[in-house]
Amino acid sequence: MMTEERTLMLVKPDGVASGHVGDVITRIENRRFKITAIRTLTASPEELRVHYQQLVGKSFYSGIEDFMTSGPIVAMIISGSDVVESIRKMTGPTDPAEAPAGTIRGDFARGWGDGPIQNVVHSSDSIESAEREIKIWFPDEK
Ligand code: TYD
Repeated sequence: MMTEERTLMLVKPDGVASGHVGDVITRIENRRFKITAIRTLTASPEELRVHYQQLVGKSFYSGIEDFMTSGPIVAMIISGSDVVESIRKMTGPTDPAEAPAGTIRGDFARGWGDGPIQNVVHSSDSIESAEREIKIWFPDEK
């Protein structure tokens, strides 16, 4: 069933630094999804720990924190039919080396190897995650 819903996307520090904010927004708009809120910010370690609560205990978490707080990010709320699943598909797999051409990660990630994975964007993996994550980055949104 097609349901109207919303999701959260973050353009991560690598995506902003390499100039792909416009490319990401164009892909979203070309699919007729609506960006209903957008802001640029630099994430704090505290916000990130809430956002990545399921990863905080992992050995690689400090690398994620260093990377995600290393520069500005762009946070967006995106609305539309089945938007959570559609944006996840457009995002592509976590490892950019495995991300197919045509996905945001496959087309725009610059490098991988040692250290935290730098994969251009985050997108929520479920409606519940989206609503939880929207509260972190858009505390004034209903
Ligand atoms: P995860 O939520 O598993 O992936 P996704 O972003 O595709 O939903 O992980 C969150 C981020 O953590 C991921 O985008 C990159 C980083 N990460 C690593 O740096 N190393 C890892 O081994 C994993 C699993 C994730």
